Amino acid sequence: MAPWFRALLLGAFLFPALVESLVRHYKFSVVSKNFTKLCATKSIVTVDGQFPGPTLYAREDDTVIVRVTNHVTDNATIHWHGVRQFLTGWSDGPAYITQCPIQPGQSYIYNFTLTGQRGTLLWHAHISWLRATIHGAIVILPKRGIPYPFPKPDKEKIIILAEWWKADVEAVINQATQSGLPPNVSDTHTINGHPGPVPGCSSQGAGYTLHVESGKTYLLRIINAAVNDELFFKIAGHNLTIVEVDASYVKPFQIDTIFISPGQTTNALLTANQGIGKYIITLSPFMDAPVGLDNLTNYATLRYKGTPTNPPTILTSVPAQNATPVTYSFIDSLRSLNSPQYPAKVPLTVDHSLFFTMGVGVNPCDTCVNGSKLVGDINNVSFVMPTIGLLQAYHYDISGVYTVDFPANPPIPFNYTGNSPSNLQTNNGTRLHRLSFNSTVQIVLQDTAVIAPENHPTHLHGFNFFVVGKGLGNFDKNKDPQKFNLVDPVERNTVAVPTGGWVAIRFKADNPGVWLLHCHLEVHTTWGLKMAFIVENGKGPNETLPPPPSVGVNPCATCVNGSQLVSDINNVSFVRPTTALLQAHHFNIPGVFTDDFPGNPPIPFNYTGNPPTNIQTMNGTRLYRLPYNATVQIVFQGTAVIAPENHPSHLHGYNFFVVGKGLGNFDSNKDPQKFNLVDPVERNTVAVPTAGWIAIRFKADNPGVWLLHCHLEVHTTWGLKMAFLVENGEGPNESLPPPPSDLPKCQNVISNQFLHQFLRLDIRREGLPRKTAKVAQKKL
Ligand code: C2O
Repeated sequence: MAPWFRALLLGAFLFPALVESLVRHYKFSVVSKNFTKLCATKSIVTVDGQFPGPTLYAREDDTVIVRVTNHVTDNATIHWHGVRQFLTGWSDGPAYITQCPIQPGQSYIYNFTLTGQRGTLLWHAHISWLRATIHGAIVILPKRGIPYPFPKPDKEKIIILAEWWKADVEAVINQATQSGLPPNVSDTHTINGHPGPVPGCSSQGAGYTLHVESGKTYLLRIINAAVNDELFFKIAGHNLTIVEVDASYVKPFQIDTIFISPGQTTNALLTANQGIGKYIITLSPFMDAPVGLDNLTNYATLRYKGTPTNPPTILTSVPAQNATPVTYSFIDSLRSLNSPQYPAKVPLTVDHSLFFTMGVGVNPCDTCVNGSKLVGDINNVSFVMPTIGLLQAYHYDISGVYTVDFPANPPIPFNYTGNSPSNLQTNNGTRLHRLSFNSTVQIVLQDTAVIAPENHPTHLHGFNFFVVGKGLGNFDKNKDPQKFNLVDPVERNTVAVPTGGWVAIRFKADNPGVWLLHCHLEVHTTWGLKMAFIVENGKGPNETLPPPPSVGVNPCATCVNGSQLVSDINNVSFVRPTTALLQAHHFNIPGVFTDDFPGNPPIPFNYTGNPPTNIQTMNGTRLYRLPYNATVQIVFQGTAVIAPENHPSHLHGYNFFVVGKGLGNFDSNKDPQKFNLVDPVERNTVAVPTAGWIAIRFKADNPGVWLLHCHLEVHTTWGLKMAFLVENGEGPNESLPPPPSDLPKCQNVISNQFLHQFLRLDIRREGLPRKTAKVAQKKL
């Protein structure tokens, strides 16, 4: 734990209650770092260079603000798995569901309040398979002065379970997607980043050690951050008392084996009440279907203080890989605490009764190895990822992104857990299901045996739900509901749908927004085993999702001296938006740009003389609005800030006439008298002379958003660009038509190569002043 944070925790524990809740600020930097495991070194994408990532601590009712800055070349997002995100759907994090990804070099501020939850959750990347290495714990302590509803532990330990591939995980999933075949399984499971001893790599050594002192009780906050594997966790000679799952208290019960699915969390009390010594801890996978998986058991150690060197280790049996009954003994013991203080508010009536089949199918794929690919589906719909965030599309009413016709029932009923139907094909679609505000919802999640029955740990964003029933075979809507537990069912955010069986969940749709439901086995999610709900707004601001935050940008957290070279036009360094400007203009999406680009430098100075003392620029995605058919003159003025330099400037969408050119500062009285308005050259790119100016003219007869930029890519990158918004004229011949349906959106990833070039240039310019330097300024 970082020292500053230890201080914060001490503060939290020692000082008397002065305020009810706090705002806790975190900074997460997404960075690459090399790790060596299983005798192989690879670079992984992490938060703050840590695997697992840093723990986010807060108390119930605290507001958490996390600024996530992306310093890698992959797009990134973070999802706060299990956080209710009441009216803060913009902070939920799944890419293309509630937000566009955070692009390289950019940041986003997640801002949410932890209401009505206490215990352990996890955060993880929610784009592609990045969560393999981008994940960590969320610890929500009870409100100050409120005790746990169980004996106070002496100490707390976070236990994060994960999977490790020797290969690059993004390459693993990309290859699988291209081939249409299942992805390679992981090479081992890890506990707090430690693999156990593995065959063929003796230098890996022993695994994780959990140090305990005799007589003390520990609260283990166990998190399954694995990508695809459901896991058994067991400690030799010790029972565990389960007190909470998914940040909801449960009636305490004792058990020797924890079953935990990806996305789930379990708090367990461990009392060190056995003889001093070493006890084996086993972490092993569960799979009761004929599906390949990483079958390596991770052996870790529980070690009592005072254990002599080289004692015999007390062993235990590892649950069989297909030990379904062991999973049931754990799952069936879970009951909500349902005390007066923590009541289980189970919906007793149902407004929306949904029946979702979950399974795998096979769709044609021309480019795939067998001409077909594996897909996942819910009610026979394989979810197609949109190219802009669904929540944005919903909020701003952008058409063509999704449909609201996700079926409440399977389109063609069949014997779900019997023989596979002959047609294994699914439908593709970005189909959502609408729920009215505050309606009560029941979903029966029914596994299918298409290809093979399989366990699906299913996660719902934005809600906790109650698990009111579970069974094997096909759900019987007449008999099974009679056995539902509507008194003290467990409340969670992720539930394992049994292999060849069903579970029934209930929740109240009190959180407006767009919320994903998906199998938390990443392989199935990737294959399309997901769907999303639109939960409508209720009445008034307390029941309505507020508009999205404006995008935050931190242009240089990675730079050598905390500053970076930037370029500008009229002192504005252009900030690349995350939605294409033309779309934002066309669909009227607010918050993407402003149309206040200055027509003149905000503060005139001797442009080609000595540079001003303040060489800082402003950041902004600012456009200049031109009425249709307006005639425009631009004088480009080179500046000597840092150094005068030639700027070949390119205007999109137009040719222009180069009517004049000169050295030094443009003189608006004298110079225009010398303009050539008879036969000036017509071009689209013109060199602005070093420490001089050039004047161009054109007619704004082409509606749209048109970039103007220095065509030296280094300057463009540094922000030496702006854009014109040319308004429509009248009628179709003077108006920009709507975009084609296949227009790609929001994926402007910078390539590796490009970033390297940028860094090299930065180093070469080391002799220059670095304190927020500006390269060049032009007069418009
Ligand atoms: Cu833990 Cu949709 O994610």
